Amino acid sequence: MRKNQATLTDAEKQDFVEAVLALKRRGRYDRFVRTHQEFVMSDTDDGPRVAHRGPSFLPWHRRFLLDFEEELRGIDDAVELPYWDWTVDQDPEAAPWTEDFLGGTGRAADGQVTTGPFARGGGRWRISVRVDSRDFLRRSLGAGGVRLPTRAELDSVLALSTYDQSPWHSRADGFRNQLEGWRGVDLHNRIHQWVDGHMATGASPNDPVFWLHHCFIDKLWADWQRLHPGSGYLPRRPTRDVVSLEEPMRPWGDVTPADMLDHTRFYAYDTDEEEGEGAGVETETGAEGDPGA
Ligand code: CU
Ligand code: CU
Repeated sequence: MRKNQATLTDAEKQDFVEAVLALKRRGRYDRFVRTHQEFVMSDTDDGPRVAHRGPSFLPWHRRFLLDFEEELRGIDDAVELPYWDWTVDQDPEAAPWTEDFLGGTGRAADGQVTTGPFARGGGRWRISVRVDSRDFLRRSLGAGGVRLPTRAELDSVLALSTYDQSPWHSRADGFRNQLEGWRGVDLHNRIHQWVDGHMATGASPNDPVFWLHHCFIDKLWADWQRLHPGSGYLPRRPTRDVVSLEEPMRPWGDVTPADMLDHTRFYAYDTDEEEGEGAGVETETGAEGDPGA
């Protein structure tokens, strides 16, 4: 069960942080950063694209998060990825930016994060997949005048009924591209800019908030599927430069977007159940109202 980070207990926050630090210590964290950076560099509008700027943005990151979550659970099987609803938790001084969780913004001079478990000074979070010579985590929350999306902006994107459309890249119309943020209100890209520092680079998973941000993006895909049961992943047929429904995605080779459509095969979101219970009540009422029963 993946939960909203605002509802985590102190112990759940601590378990998540400890598992992330353990992965880093064992040398298993940085390959996620490297893989992500490689895909950001190679995904382009006029060439093959898998992780960004195209339809498989959502299934690619779903599989990427699953791989990471599996690693965390290898350390502590009680840990799941939490999600950060940035339409609600917008205060840079409050969760998830607290001392006991992800730590706060970086200092003014160089963006260095100096509080919480991922501060350079704590000696547990040295950046090895670097974008420059600096080996400390950087953030400047809300700097540069970027503002976080509102719920109304989010709902306007969830209302789009077409998953994606030609030319299937960063100038396409549709749900995927507006969620990813290249057009329209911009949801996903804008969060990377708002956090700034490493999050604004291809090496964004250096900042553990990457996982909480993408977990929410993943949940929004599931929410969209529920809102538009008649719509689905596109393109369904092989299409130049992008991954269609039943083609494998790099780097896995044996994972297709079709394999990733149903998140309930792997995990649930804390909001899935509310909807499930609602459906159950309707069925029961129907049975009781049947004159033959
Ligand atoms: Cu990405
Ligand atoms: Cu991202």
